[in-house]
Amino acid sequence: MQADANAAAPPAGHGPAQPLSAGAGAPLTGRMRPPGDKSISHRALILGLLAKGRTTIEGLLEGDDVLRTAAACAALGAKVERLGPGAWRVDGCGVGSLLEPKDTLDFGNAGTGTRLMMGVVGGHAMTATFDGDASLRKRPMRRILDPLTQMGVRVVSEAEGGRCPVTLRGTSEPAPIEYRTPVPSAQLKSAILLAGLNSPGRTVVIETEASRNHTEKMLAYFGASVTSAPDGAHGRRITLEGRPELTARDVIVPADPSSGAFALVGALIIPGSDVVIEGMMMNPLRIGLITTLIEMGGAIETLNPRIEGGEDVADLRVRHSALHGVDVPAERAPSMIDEYPVLAVAAAFATGETRMRGLAELRVKESDRLAAVAAGLDAAGVANRIEGDDLIVTGGAGAVRGGGMVATHLDHRIAMSFLVMGLASQQPMSIDDASMIATSFPTFRPDMERLGARFSAA
Ligand code: S3P
Repeated sequence: MQADANAAAPPAGHGPAQPLSAGAGAPLTGRMRPPGDKSISHRALILGLLAKGRTTIEGLLEGDDVLRTAAACAALGAKVERLGPGAWRVDGCGVGSLLEPKDTLDFGNAGTGTRLMMGVVGGHAMTATFDGDASLRKRPMRRILDPLTQMGVRVVSEAEGGRCPVTLRGTSEPAPIEYRTPVPSAQLKSAILLAGLNSPGRTVVIETEASRNHTEKMLAYFGASVTSAPDGAHGRRITLEGRPELTARDVIVPADPSSGAFALVGALIIPGSDVVIEGMMMNPLRIGLITTLIEMGGAIETLNPRIEGGEDVADLRVRHSALHGVDVPAERAPSMIDEYPVLAVAAAFATGETRMRGLAELRVKESDRLAAVAAGLDAAGVANRIEGDDLIVTGGAGAVRGGGMVATHLDHRIAMSFLVMGLASQQPMSIDDASMIATSFPTFRPDMERLGARFSAA
């Protein structure tokens, strides 16, 4: 991989902890474009590796997570070059023609990169070791290893409980399987489909709750034969024909709704705010937060809806609003799984109770997000409780005491969510470490400051 501006900085989480505070001040006003979508950025690089020829990518998220995937693609034989800000080029190898990596694939904090690449390696006759930081080493990989084993992949070694470091021996003849995913996870679905690419038959993944569909869409865009049909009330049945000839394509990455979420909630809770968030991806499987905030009374206007890079995209005008509590159904969780921490912040400023149902998967993200959010709310003086897998927040009707120090547990979204809370609470909020923000949103601080946010060293 060619040297790039980011290569000089230490990878996220590897330097000293960077405490940071956010305090109330000016309203948020003006326009901002969130960085490229993290899910699509990982997939664009990986499909670039798996296609023959030259893939170009515009708007790639240059966060640490995605740079790890770029490095892994290079380790598996692709030529990966950065041409300019967000502009990348991948000369791919083609399915079946990857190289065995010489060293451990170190994915840092990135669950998506790790799990998708386990699928890629699983479909090739090579041995590779996957590892990452302390957060990644806690995350469950058994959910990926189980279906891959059924496909003929051998788990050479794993840490206790199916965790990283994991060494896999892939196969050039992955068995075609039909697999019903036990948890709604796009990472799991994607790992199986990516392994199935080199299968001589048909790979079928059935999910009871539809998860984000970027892998299916991008596989089709690169020339694979893949179909997705409804299955049950909320599910999908995805069918992939093995051994397609993937052809390199040009990919435009839309703005990440999971990153745009911070300015969105900030504008809703900070009096006087009026912002336009540009180019937000509006894929129906990603916009559960927007649906929920509108139900809560949020003034969110959709402007200029259009298609960009094969995805629905729009600009959102967001104004300060008096929010009220709602009941968020469990079946909405996959479409907003990364947005619950910041939704909990919005709920803290609402009038009445917000119940968020069915959050079991939050316990196995970059941190145990259910526990981390509850602890952050406690630190800010916000009444909350966990009942089973539900989180219930009692809002302060526009007033939150704040003033706490939040433990971020190497979790970028916990860090950004509680900084946003501090922009509207009576006393500033502090977080113990802002360095992980670079995994998904390296320009969070300057982008939010341009809108009027105030941060200071804690
Ligand atoms: C992602 C899927 C989600 C999400 C993660 C990105 C993806 O994880 O939390 O940030 O790009 O496929 P799960 O698939 O495990 O729910």
